Amino acid sequence: MSSYPNLRLRRTRASAWSRALYRETVLTPADLIWPVFVTEGQGVTEEIGSLPGVSRGSVDVIAARAKEAVALGIPCLALFPNTPGHLRDEDGSEAHNPDNLMCRAIRAIKDACGEDIGVLTDVALDPYTSHGQDGLLDEAGYVVNDATVDALVQQALNQASAGADIVAPSDMMDGRIAAIREGLEETGHANVQLMAYAAKYASAFYGPFRDAVGSGGLLKGDKKTYQMDPANAEEALREVELDLAEGADSVMVKPGLPYLDIVRRVKEMFQVPVFAYQVSGEYAMIEAAAAAGAGDRDALVLETLTAFKRAGASGVLTYHAPLAAKLLG
Ligand code: PBG
Repeated sequence: MSSYPNLRLRRTRASAWSRALYRETVLTPADLIWPVFVTEGQGVTEEIGSLPGVSRGSVDVIAARAKEAVALGIPCLALFPNTPGHLRDEDGSEAHNPDNLMCRAIRAIKDACGEDIGVLTDVALDPYTSHGQDGLLDEAGYVVNDATVDALVQQALNQASAGADIVAPSDMMDGRIAAIREGLEETGHANVQLMAYAAKYASAFYGPFRDAVGSGGLLKGDKKTYQMDPANAEEALREVELDLAEGADSVMVKPGLPYLDIVRRVKEMFQVPVFAYQVSGEYAMIEAAAAAGAGDRDALVLETLTAFKRAGASGVLTYHAPLAAKLLG
């Protein structure tokens, strides 16, 4: 028996005030983490061809962006360095330099903004290696796990010493969360958070990012021996379970939109803070659609970001963060 006309779901949609009243999901600037790319120099901005509208910035420019983020109500910046070519080597040793680009950017942001903004740092060796892989290679070119974990611990401690608030390992090595947590505890960094890239897939959506950090041209092969198979969901839940058991404060799913089912399942199963990374290729797709007249940029941005929250994300890493914050502000 139909309940129509007693039940008309269009009734609550009929006016803007009513839609506002019944809205289930609210997106705010406080849900956003803004990833930025750091480069050498002073007063430098460099366009990134495959990421239209996103530019690398020198340390001083990044500090200014941090101030902009504070003004827009964005609570956190994620830093990625474009290491000069001559400083890249087989082992990514520049990752351990206390004065590397990453550490200088952390200090500049903290000097400019203090506690007004959080600084999230990427823990992985790919911006520092001459081969573009996230870890150390054996003779066969395989990324070795345990020696890489040791290097990641040193990298994370270097970032924590420079003032990082959240260290975020994006490397997908086994056991790195426990090792980094232990290292942080032992060195007086008990309050530094760990956001685990827990379910990170071997995705075709990372291309523009690799251009941005200058690793794309160096990378031979792929990252499928450590990043996950896009076909797998149960494995993502196991990754999350392990990272939580090892001491992660929050977990991330990456890429974003094609993996909203994973966000949802992680949230329902573990009831912990889950973040999603709307990655570079997703940003580029929206920009390409807007440029082609296939969609309205602002509407696409707000709809996709709202979808992350509806799926259960606590927040989203997105290159559209400043635009979205302006639209929401
Ligand atoms: C590497 C890293 C990648 C991204 C963040 N950290 C690329 C990769 O795994 O090759 C991708 C982010 C993006 O595409 O926006 N550790």
